[in-house]
Amino acid sequence: MESVEQVAGYVVAIDAADEGEILNLAVAPQSRRHGLGHTLVRRVLEALTGRGARAIYLEVRESNAPARRLYATHGFREVGRRQQYYRRPVEDAIVLRLDA
Ligand SMILES: CC(C)(COP(=O)(O)OP(=O)(O)OC[C@H]1O[C@@H](n2cnc3c(N)ncnc32)[C@H](O)[C@@H]1OP(=O)(O)O)[C@@H](O)C(=O)NCCC(=O)NCCS
Repeated sequence: MESVEQVAGYVVAIDAADEGEILNLAVAPQSRRHGLGHTLVRRVLEALTGRGARAIYLEVRESNAPARRLYATHGFREVGRRQQYYRRPVEDAIVLRLDA
């Protein structure tokens, strides 16, 4: 029997004491630009702040304009840069922080 069920998107985060970190976020290509990314970020921020996070961090490729716009909309600000952090291709990571 065929199934059309697919994962449309996911987000992974951790927290410790009063800090949280978004480790991964992705929406399937065919499901993008429909607001799912906004929803996933909103939900994970609610979960992290609900668990006591007061500062939330993440890293994003410098060239990843869609993700950087998404995070900026939710209040994340650039606080650092990790030189040549990513591989294939090599690229700097921008460190973002949100004060919740
Ligand atoms: C980044 C990503 C999660 C966005 O998911 P999405 O479901 O398309 O996002 P939404 O439809 O909720 O859009 C959220 C915002 O992201 C930005 N955005 C999304 N796609 C964009 C694009 N192609 N170009 C520019 N901005 C874009 C916009 O600011 C948008 O807000 P707006 O529609 O109000 O202008 C998705 O593009 C993705 O999975 N990318 C690959 C994985 C990735 O880069 N993850 C982040 C790692 S840190």
